[in-house]
Amino acid sequence: MPVAQPASATGEHPPGAALVGTKYVKVPKNDPSQAKEANDAPKFPIAPRMTADKGRVPHVASTQQYLEMWQRSVDKPAEFFAEQARELLSWMTPFSVAHHGDLHHGDASWFLDGTLNASYICVDRHAFATPDKVAIIYEADHPDRPHVEITYRELLRQVCQLAGALHAQGLRKGDAVGIYLPNTAHAVVAMLACARLGLVHSVIFAGFSAEALRDRLRDCQCKVLITADQGMRAGKEINIKSIADEALREAPMVQKVIVHKRTGNPNVKMDPTRDIYWDEAVKSHRPYCPPVPMAAEDPLFMLYTSGSTGKPKGLMHTTAGYLLGAALSTKYVFDVHEGDKFACVADVGWITGHSYIVYGPLALGTTTLVFEGVPTWPEPDMYWRLIQKHKLTQFYTSPTALRALRKFGDEPVKKYDLTSVRVLGSVGEPIDPNTWMWLHDVVGKGEAAIVDTYWQTETGAHVLTPLPGAIETKPGSATVPFFGVRPAILDPQTGEELEGNDVSGVLAFKQAWPSMARTVFGDHDRYLETYVRPYPGYYFTGDGCTRDHDGYLWIKGRVDDVINNAGHRLSVAEIESALTAHETCAEAAVVGAPDEIAGQCVIAFVTLKHTHIPTSEIPALLTYAVRRSIGPIATPKRIIIVPDLPKTRSGKVMRRILRKIVANETDSLGDLSTLSDPSVVQTIIDLHNNKQ
Ligand code: WTA
Repeated sequence: MPVAQPASATGEHPPGAALVGTKYVKVPKNDPSQAKEANDAPKFPIAPRMTADKGRVPHVASTQQYLEMWQRSVDKPAEFFAEQARELLSWMTPFSVAHHGDLHHGDASWFLDGTLNASYICVDRHAFATPDKVAIIYEADHPDRPHVEITYRELLRQVCQLAGALHAQGLRKGDAVGIYLPNTAHAVVAMLACARLGLVHSVIFAGFSAEALRDRLRDCQCKVLITADQGMRAGKEINIKSIADEALREAPMVQKVIVHKRTGNPNVKMDPTRDIYWDEAVKSHRPYCPPVPMAAEDPLFMLYTSGSTGKPKGLMHTTAGYLLGAALSTKYVFDVHEGDKFACVADVGWITGHSYIVYGPLALGTTTLVFEGVPTWPEPDMYWRLIQKHKLTQFYTSPTALRALRKFGDEPVKKYDLTSVRVLGSVGEPIDPNTWMWLHDVVGKGEAAIVDTYWQTETGAHVLTPLPGAIETKPGSATVPFFGVRPAILDPQTGEELEGNDVSGVLAFKQAWPSMARTVFGDHDRYLETYVRPYPGYYFTGDGCTRDHDGYLWIKGRVDDVINNAGHRLSVAEIESALTAHETCAEAAVVGAPDEIAGQCVIAFVTLKHTHIPTSEIPALLTYAVRRSIGPIATPKRIIIVPDLPKTRSGKVMRRILRKIVANETDSLGDLSTLSDPSVVQTIIDLHNNKQ
């Protein structure tokens, strides 16, 4: 067996995936993981045992097989993906054109003349073949509340009845529907009911504020909103309906609101001319509603995400390409087999929930778990309890959740039998090697495969990831590209591609893949401007990346003005404009600071209008302003009132300096002579260190 593979046949540097047949991979001293975690880094990395150990032959059983499949997927993408699309999806009309367009023109499209329906693929075909199989396990916010199991037969009935109700509201293919629901089975049903009729769903995370909800509903011109009376989070009631009511006061295009009775609280107000309870709305509709044939490139949904500007982007995903990416990656990355029980404990309000609670697992006919609660309430063992209770085979979570759980030690994990788990996944932010090792050793007992999956709302599905049983892992590295993905590391200044190993730069992809977002709703130029034009011919991710000596890829975090707080993407510009909209605030500069649990937290530096003097109340008022404008997820950890911000002579705020200050790297502030007033820097350092 070879120990290291040469660069692939094309001379490019993808699958550094170099090591076969060895259980342990030694990482040399210059590995990025070691730089970061120098203190207690002696024992990693250890490659996990493959899933084959638990009695399965993985779908991709060797590095060689991965290399062959990957090579074909990028050399002959139309052929490779056409085969996959025929195997994994069901077509109402078969396609004859598998691929058209490219990154240069921003017009890549797939399976163009085929028609299909995502709801049929995720529900009907399994309801016909295995009606009694459990499609969804819904676990509510409290462990004492019994879980609910929904079979594929029952799911078909629920999806059809809600589709009937939406149709009765006059909604037709192409109309947009807002979904503002807690993470419940109802949210999944709502998405699939929209997909059945070709309605474009726009799920808005239920932690967003009324203003954020209003802006998103207005942007996509939603005609109907599906929401709930209340949500439950860590035992507390969240008044979802009243937040929605506030949003709808300024979103008059929403004419009908369907309300799921989550708690049944009698104090929740309904507007009889506009609002109807879910059960009322569906009860007169028959349990079957034909799925509408959709062109492959018809939109399936849009999902808003924050970028480096103040206005969130509604990224649009298509029916076939997206669904194929979700199904393909669920199958291969999580090595899903018949009889598996799959759990992704994200929220359906984010892309992770879309792809790996709903569309990926259900397209494959797998049992998927929806968990409404939080990992640490009422006890910090909720995840482990769920794994044991349902004998889950895959478990997909985030580094922030794992770091929070690890703080409670190993005991809460050891209380449970977790041997059913074959694959443990991580997503949303870089996972530090120590947390990776904890996941591997303590949760996986050294026997489950760990997959650190890198991807984005825009990519629709995993783009860098190991495959269990095929790729040896290194803790902290998202390893190698998924099928169809040709990564490149670019010099951020020149845009030149950095060939070979041991290079760092920005991560880009050299060719289109089926599940990439096609456009920003209503603003294709912004799509081109953000993703395609910065480095012509490449898709630009916005992330920094290192390729190590083995060709393994290590994500270094965002290089743009996006903060990744607990896996949530927050826009610096959005938070700044929420702050400056407040009557007291003159200017604001927001930066991400390292945070032990959340990866990054938000720190805001503000100057006040001359009409206001600094008081201890102002930070609280400004915090409230941010929560109101965006939601609790954007809450700054600290708001520091400063006399001035560090600015160049032309008035540009130097966030770079503030980033250094919050990271306590004040000995490497760099050249301050370009600032209009360099002395302000020391004042800011003092105010920062002098914790308010
Ligand atoms: C970050 C979430 C390191 C990255 C699926 C990306 C990661 C952004 C990883 C997308 C990972 C996601 N390692 N960083 N495994 N996964 N990211 O759109 O900065 O909410 O650009 O999609 O999260 O966040 P989004």
